[in-house]
Amino acid sequence: MPDADGITPGQDGTKPAPSGPAQTKDYHLGVAPQDAGFPVKGAAHLEWGMKNRLARMFRPDSGNTVMLAFDHGYIMGPTTGLERLDLVIPPLAPYVDVLMGTRGGLRGCVPPTVQNPVCLRVGYDASVLFDDMSDGGGLACDIAGALRMNAICLAAQTFIGAPGEKNSLGLLAQVVDAGAKYGVPTMGVVAVGKQMARTEQFFLLATRILAENGANVVKSYYCDGFEHVTAACPVPIVIAGGKKLPEAEALTMAYRAIAEGAHGVDMGRNIFQAADPPAMAQAVSRVVHLGESDSQAYEYYLDTKQR
Ligand code: 5RP
Repeated sequence: MPDADGITPGQDGTKPAPSGPAQTKDYHLGVAPQDAGFPVKGAAHLEWGMKNRLARMFRPDSGNTVMLAFDHGYIMGPTTGLERLDLVIPPLAPYVDVLMGTRGGLRGCVPPTVQNPVCLRVGYDASVLFDDMSDGGGLACDIAGALRMNAICLAAQTFIGAPGEKNSLGLLAQVVDAGAKYGVPTMGVVAVGKQMARTEQFFLLATRILAENGANVVKSYYCDGFEHVTAACPVPIVIAGGKKLPEAEALTMAYRAIAEGAHGVDMGRNIFQAADPPAMAQAVSRVVHLGESDSQAYEYYLDTKQR
């Protein structure tokens, strides 16, 4: 196969033999190798596959992500708004970046033709019937199962300050190791039990512990003093929405979180329990990716909402 410079293979097809005058190739001598760096916090020293997956999670234009969390059934059963995952999740998918769910929820209710990358919850925990949710969690889906689900991120729940702390950190380490082997990042999830105060002090401690134990992303909650929490955490923090708030308040929380250093949301109830979930997903996305204020995004929500 001749190249444009006139070098063609020899007759036996194996040895290149020069033929004709050399044409110009431009090696751009003097131009430094292009290395744009890598925009995800704490990921500069990871390998290509890990970075590529993180870049599918955090949009390169904003550095942020809107993840739709619909994993609630793993301990809560058919949560309000998620009674029929098959009817609720596919219509929301075009408005979010990442789908965060369980293997069973995704496999049973979300068509595999969906284009969003998947963050897979890979652990099980005690159901809401138990007083202590931290008691006795384990691995619900191993790395082979996660790769079969084409997951770009593994989510593991942790219970800092609860009786199950040690067990959950052991599980996090196991997930981080398995993911690292195949270039799949892990998101450590900070659980807030009944006995845990939602204070700056608690979230500073919990998010940092998860990052130091190898989580590539941390899911936590917005709190007063949040800018200290994001500053002290060496990897990106995405916030959970928590229990349903009026839409305007949920957008204010998202706005403050982004302004104070969050790299996105992994939001469930405040999207799928909204009066108009697609409009809410889009309004959240405008805060997260376009830098719109909470009031601009709320105006958008009201304009877009189906009456
Ligand atoms: C609990 C979780 C939830 O299962 C869920 O993802 C939380 O989402 P939201 O609070 O926005 O409904 O992560 O730790």
